[in-house]
Order: sequence, then C-alpha cells, then structure tokens
Amino acid sequence: MFKEELLKGRRILVTGGGTGLGLSMGRRFLELGAELVICGRREEVLAEAAKTLSAETGGKVETHGCDVRDAEAVEAMIEAIWANGPLDALVNNAAGNFISRTEDLSPRAVDAVLNIVLHGSAYTTLACGKRWLKDERKAAVLNIVTTYAWTGSAYVVPSAMAKGGVLAMTRSLAVEWGGRGIRVNAVAPGPFPTSGAWERLVPRPDLARIFETQNPLGRVGDHRELADLACFLLSDGASYINGEVVTIDGGEWLQGAGQFNFLRRMTGEDWDSLKPKRKK
Ligand code: HXC
Ligand code: NAP
Repeated sequence: MFKEELLKGRRILVTGGGTGLGLSMGRRFLELGAELVICGRREEVLAEAAKTLSAETGGKVETHGCDVRDAEAVEAMIEAIWANGPLDALVNNAAGNFISRTEDLSPRAVDAVLNIVLHGSAYTTLACGKRWLKDERKAAVLNIVTTYAWTGSAYVVPSAMAKGGVLAMTRSLAVEWGGRGIRVNAVAPGPFPTSGAWERLVPRPDLARIFETQNPLGRVGDHRELADLACFLLSDGASYINGEVVTIDGGEWLQGAGQFNFLRRMTGEDWDSLKPKRKK
C-alpha cells in the first residue's frame, strides 16, 4: 500500500508503545523507515518490545521509562529525546481504562484514567509543541481516541470524559498550531484485540464475543489496518489533513445512531413478508 520509504528519517514517539496498538503502530513506522521512540511505565516491557522490533525490522528503537501523568518526568523525557535528535511526530497512545458502574468509582479511580489519558496527552503534546514552535519545525501529532469521545458511553465514563477532552485538544491545536507547521489529528478505533483492553473491558468470553462482533462488518479490526492509517496520517500524503478524527471501526458507532438500524436483524424472508403490509 505504501512506498517502503514513506516515513524515512522521521523520528516518532509513541507513548505506551511497548504493548498493544502502540507496539503495532511502532512496528509499521519502522518498516516504513522511521526511527522509533517508545515510552511507558514498565521499562522491562519497553526493552523487550525494542529488542523484538529491532530484530523484526532492523530499525532503531529508543526507549524511555516514563509515567505520562508526571509532567516533570515528561519534560525530562522529551529533553532527553531531543538530546538525541528532535522528534518529527508524536502519537498519544498511552491510556488507562476499565469498566465499572460509575457510582462505584472512587475519586482515585476517576483520576487514574483522566490523569493518564487527558493530562498525559496534554503534557507530551505541550513538551513537544513548545520545541517545534521554537525551532519552526514541521511536525505531526496523532491522538488515539475512541468513538465514544463524541457519543459518550456508559460504564467507561472517566475514559469517555478523557477521550472527549483529547478530541477537543486535537481540534483546538489544529487551528492554533496548523499555520505554524504542526498538524494535529486523531484516529478513533473500534475493537482491535489487545490484552490490555480485553482484560479490563470485556473480561468474560460472552462479553468479549459481543464486543468483537457488534459492528456491521461482524469482526474486529486487524492491527495492520490501524497501523497503516496512522502511517498515512503522519506522512506527507496527509499534509492537508488537520484537525480531523478518522474513525476505523467497521461502522460500529453509526449503527448505534440510525433509528432504523435495528432492521439489520431482518432476514430476506422478513422483508418479503412485509411487502404486502408496507404502504407504497
Ligand atoms: C473500579 C478500579 C478498577 C476497576 C482500578 N480501580 N481498577 N476501580 N474498577 N476495574 C481503582 C483502584 O481501586 C484505585 O482506587 C484507583 O482506581 C487507582 O488504581 P491503581 O491500581 O492504583 O492505579 P494505577 O496503578 O495507576 O493503574 C491505572 C489503571 C490500570 C488505569 C487503573 O488499569 C492501568 O495501569 N491501565 C493501563 C493499561 C490500560 O488500561 N489499557 C487499556 C486501554 S484500552 P482506590 O480508591 O481503591 O485507591 C482503551 C480502549 C478504549 O482505552 C475503547 C475501546 C473501544
Ligand atoms: P494497552 O496495550 O493496554 O496500551 C496502553 C499502553 O499505555 C501500555 O503500553 C501502557 O504501558 C501505557 N501506559 C498506561 N499508563 C501509562 C502512563 N501513566 N504512562 C506511560 N504509559 C502508560 O491497550 P491498547 O488496546 O493497545 O490501547 C492503546 C490505545 O488505543 C489507547 O489509547 C486506547 O484507548 C486506544 N483504543 C484501543 C482500542 C482497542 O480496541 N484496543 C479501541 C479504541 C481505542 P505501561 O503499563 O507499561 O505504562
């Protein structure tokens, strides 16, 4: 789908890049010529990911143990990254989430999610943005949100609040920084299997099955499908796309929106039997 050198020489930071979708996006960035930087809280997970990715792609991977909830730690990490060379792109992928009845949440539980997703994304974006603006350097930010950033969702309320905030940041900064060479976009994935998400969101086989199939395509996303979208949005091919959120969910959220979408359950026979009853 892409030229092998699409991202050649681009230095890209993926937060939470040691696992799940961050790892898959990082792998694809490397395959397309990028230099990868990944961060997360667990250094051993990052080291293992870097080793695997380098062996698979022959690319260069830099790792930084960093908790994105800690603004000072983020600033120190970005300073250390810049000492090795400026970044060209930032992917705000790190997240925390779990299902819970909202009335069961403690204040600490609310903070746990908001601090990672909303504050963490703001800290990394600010630390990179200040440097890009000062150096008048072209760059791109890609925020990983979800479709409930705009629909909202029961049982994951702190995550919906945080992702909604990140989407607001995406659209706001696209306007504020776009004219100075920094594009800011987002992707909203539907279900893409990762142990991090599945263990916390659908920790029972029957729930997982519903989550995996409740979209018009009846299947989960393939990590490569998301990774390719991320590559496109960070590449020069997307140089006029700014402030956009691209949904990649097999049509999942739209099917919940259309009032007559419930008719998807009708068979061909159902439609035939309705013919004489329907007013023309
Ligand atoms: C209710 C919970 C809880 C749960 C934790 N808490 N898990 N409350 N239900 N399942 C509460 C704790 O009791 C505690 O409150 C507070 O949250 C903080 O918990 P800690 O364990 O101390 O937090 P911490 O170690 O900081 O871990 C953060 C975390 C954890 C978010 C809770 O799950 C984590 O590290 N997650 C990172 C990875 C992740 O979540 N990946 C999934 C992303 S998937 P008290 O008051 O008891 O002290 C995703 C998909 C989106 O975002 C869309 C899908 C379509
Ligand atoms: P995941 O594997 O659990 O990824 C989360 C990553 O974030 C982990 O590597 C984790 O590493 C890191 N992280 C968490 N808290 C952090 C912190 N405080 N500081 C730094 N790093 C932190 O889950 P995933 O499914 O791949 O999710 C990746 C992204 O996709 C998230 O933004 C998620 O909301 C989004 N998303 C996923 C799906 C899906 O179906 N999987 C759907 C929609 C959106 P450490 O624990 O080592 O810190």
